[in-house]
Amino acid sequence: MSSVVEIRGVAKRYPGVVANHDVNLQVEKGTIHAIIGENGAGKSTLMKILYGMVKPDEGSISVEGQQLLLKSPQDAIAAGIGMVHQHFMLADNATVLENVILGSEPTKFGIVIQFDQARQKLLEIAQQYGLDIDPNQSVSELGVGGRQRVEIAKVLFRGAKILILDEPTAVLVPQEVDELFDNLKELTKNGLTILFISHKLDEVLSISDDITVMRQGTTVASLKPSQTTKKQMAELMVGGELPAPRTGENRTSDVKVLDIKEVSYRRSDGREILHNVNLDLFGGEILGLAGVEGNGQSELIELVLGLIKPSAGSILVLGQDTATTTTREIRDSGVGYIPQDRSRDSLLMGAALWENRILGHQATAPMAKGLWIDKEAAKADSERIVREYDVRTPGINVMANALSGGNQQKFIVGREMSSSPKLIVAALPTRGVDVGAQAIIWDRLVEARIAGVGVLLISVDLDEIFSLSDRIAVIYNGQIVAVLDPRKTTPEELGLAMTGAKSA
Ligand SMILES: Nc1ncnc2c1ncn2[C@@H]1O[C@H](COP(=O)(O)OP(=O)(O)OP(=O)(O)O)[C@@H](O)[C@H]1O
Ligand SMILES: [Mg+2]
Repeated sequence: MSSVVEIRGVAKRYPGVVANHDVNLQVEKGTIHAIIGENGAGKSTLMKILYGMVKPDEGSISVEGQQLLLKSPQDAIAAGIGMVHQHFMLADNATVLENVILGSEPTKFGIVIQFDQARQKLLEIAQQYGLDIDPNQSVSELGVGGRQRVEIAKVLFRGAKILILDEPTAVLVPQEVDELFDNLKELTKNGLTILFISHKLDEVLSISDDITVMRQGTTVASLKPSQTTKKQMAELMVGGELPAPRTGENRTSDVKVLDIKEVSYRRSDGREILHNVNLDLFGGEILGLAGVEGNGQSELIELVLGLIKPSAGSILVLGQDTATTTTREIRDSGVGYIPQDRSRDSLLMGAALWENRILGHQATAPMAKGLWIDKEAAKADSERIVREYDVRTPGINVMANALSGGNQQKFIVGREMSSSPKLIVAALPTRGVDVGAQAIIWDRLVEARIAGVGVLLISVDLDEIFSLSDRIAVIYNGQIVAVLDPRKTTPEELGLAMTGAKSA
């Protein structure tokens, strides 16, 4: 086999941070190559360098024996390198075909885009690689898995032979992961090469041909899945032993922090998204809400936060009816919220980290001093979060977008656990964080529960649901179809309930 990509001695420094140094990587043609490492290890930086988005300070990159000077993604695309980002970048109000064409080299298609020709080409790509996409469908109708297929098709449409996927499975449910992996295998059979980043060591073991471990900015090991274990991989990532997440006994109190009664929610277009939902959550309890994404979870969260109002039924949050309370009042009364999309809902990427500490918490201690914002308190508390949640950053004055994805997530979790909440709504709290950070976040959620906080945990990660929940409610098609005891339920039973299959 021949190396299709060869990276030698790559280094990239940011003010106060060495994101990459002495990086060496060889990727064989037609293989699936996984890159693993802790949050902030430099994985995304390296992939952005290979994609021409970030210019390295040192080192060389060769593709098929040719040394490349990548000045922009256009150069990378010309060399057959394509990238699917951690966050999708599709236009919602356009069709699949329009999104695929968008930004394609105009010279190839002339001034007038040849839609029929492009549609034909897209259909051929879909057929060849077994990608389930419909060129005429609107992207807004697609779930996460569908959007990802469009992103992949877009990259293939541009002629990519080397595909980079940054945490492609972080956003997928198990069934979608299987489908993605089938697609990726099909691509390698056709001679394409896949580079992908993941924190899920099980899937790395099951799908990759080669594994490269990064630690503190550099490549530290290359492994074959048949000759390694999850434990060994994790230890190479952290350079030592892993912390074990702790558990605590059940301390459920009789204080209802959340009481959802016969709630239905109808969208303005008339579609009923939630139907007759009944759920309660007590202080000192973690209630797992398990479900495949898009079954009404987002709307349920918005209802609890008072962002939208139910069409029928009532919701009491810490005893207050959300029908007559504002989101601000609900939040200030002691509700922490870890949203599922950190870049959209919970961080100002261009603001300093400490300024992000204030975001959404303007009116509560320690930030509010009368009518004024107490900057010093915000800064001090940011320092505390960075310490307690092991947020890897050169300081609290850097902009949020200077942090790696997982470290942004740790900061948000830390912020939302501050100001002594009584109810925490945690949506996919460990999306994109490494195994060590996952243990920290799980620990903090368990600590909050021991301290009497009620936690509504929305997750698609069965491991997470089983490790943390005192009770599991399953949402499917806008209804709660089961409430299960995790000690008496198998992952298979839960998986079945999540897909709406009636248990036998
Ligand atoms: N634009 C930037 N400005 C300053 N520092 C940056 C920038 N981009 C990345 N860094 C820093 O470089 C380091 C590596 O970040 P990178 O995003 O490559 O990590 P990662 O391995 O992808 O982590 P994660 O698993 O959390 O996504 C981090 O310390 C990060 O804070
Ligand atoms: Mg990353």
